[in-house]
Amino acid sequence: MSVLLKNGLVVTTTGSYVADVYVEGDRIKSIGTGLAVKADETVDAKGKYILPGAIDPHTHIDMPFMGTTSADDWKTGSIAAACGGTTCIIDFNLQVKGESLRDAVDKQKAKADGKAVVDYSIHPGVTDARPDVIDEVKKAIHEYGTPSFKIFLFYDFRVDDYAMIRLLEETKKHGGLVQVHAESFDIIKRLNEQFAAAGTMSPPYHAKAHAVIAEEEAVSRAATAAEFTGSRIYIVHLSSGQGLWKVRKARDRGVGIYAETCPQYLTLNEDRYNEPNWGGAKYVMSPPLRTPDNSAELWQGLRDGDVQTIGTDHCPFNFKGQKDMNGKDDYKKTPNGAPGIETMLMLMHSEGVAKGRISLERLVDVVSTGTARMFGLADKGAIAAGKDADIVVFDPKRKFTITQKRLHQNVDYTPYEGFEVTGMPEIVYSRGKRVAEWAGDQMKFVGEVGRGRFVKRQPLAAF
Ligand code: URP
Ligand code: ZN
Ligand code: ZN
Repeated sequence: MSVLLKNGLVVTTTGSYVADVYVEGDRIKSIGTGLAVKADETVDAKGKYILPGAIDPHTHIDMPFMGTTSADDWKTGSIAAACGGTTCIIDFNLQVKGESLRDAVDKQKAKADGKAVVDYSIHPGVTDARPDVIDEVKKAIHEYGTPSFKIFLFYDFRVDDYAMIRLLEETKKHGGLVQVHAESFDIIKRLNEQFAAAGTMSPPYHAKAHAVIAEEEAVSRAATAAEFTGSRIYIVHLSSGQGLWKVRKARDRGVGIYAETCPQYLTLNEDRYNEPNWGGAKYVMSPPLRTPDNSAELWQGLRDGDVQTIGTDHCPFNFKGQKDMNGKDDYKKTPNGAPGIETMLMLMHSEGVAKGRISLERLVDVVSTGTARMFGLADKGAIAAGKDADIVVFDPKRKFTITQKRLHQNVDYTPYEGFEVTGMPEIVYSRGKRVAEWAGDQMKFVGEVGRGRFVKRQPLAAF
């Protein structure tokens, strides 16, 4: 199968230019002007962008959590990704106590294989940092193809600082990366106690309990651990200006600390917790939504390079049947998380590029090229000869009103209901095959269930 995309604007991190892109089989074969090749499929891409498929480095698909399981399985979650222009997913799998990293990775692969419609990888989530698990880090990096490891400083399955330090030492030796959910367990525990005593346990108090200072403290601790070990660390779902300030201060001193933020922290704010009829529960996620000032600081971080990637933290729970399964009178019992896998690229283009907050080139960096580099996806993340043909033909002018009815995620709401976006994918290719296309008033999945492959990632270069 070959595809010729003609006269589109090829976007890279360093500039954009009009060209033809020729795809043969799974890969981009050549790029040039006026390419004289015959292809099985030719697309007039004049006026459209040719973007590398987005890469979502933060999803929780089919994940057991807080007494339930996230609502998307690998089929529905990856179809939603494809329809949003995301052609590679790096999902978290949380190790169960007693399991090896190999068990944890294999368990998630077994769920994905035969269902995923786009390529995927896995970050082992380390919850049981026994000495043999620390020893296994080298194998995970060099044999399993999973060089990034998630730890939590919050939740019951959090690890202590000693485990964080030991993991940082091992990843430094072998070319890996520790990713950290940075919230102080103890600050949040104390605030939870105070709100429980006062009888204030509705959704807005979830946000108050997960205070900015809890993130700031944990980011600071993670930065200290990275500095102490001389290793590198990646803060997932950074939500606050104060947290970013800690990242920036450490980076200015030469500490290897990186940050990801998510569309929800850039585009939504804490007012959402006051939605009537317990609607605030839709946004019960950790960390929580913040004030618009925090969003503005995160946009600044994306512009100046102190925030390197966007992930969605897609962790969908139905509003009816899951968010409310443990009752409505204690925010601590509400499953944490919200959907977002399908809306990342459209929101980042519309709220970022179309509103002049980031350039088109920066968009490509933070949703694809930089993400591929950060996580060792050597064949993905760029429109360049030899790379996987994971491509989005993107119409920058198309208007779309986000509504759950027109999305493919297997959940009963979207946090972005009613958002009007400018710019939508027109055609999405995964390794040279069309997987989604615009169909009148919404995206349509046209790919093949199970074609998505597990991608072995490369050890990360020294920094
Ligand atoms: O609330 C969230 N973010 N749920 C998913 C798990 C996590 O903390 O990333
Ligand atoms: Zn987290
Ligand atoms: Zn998460």
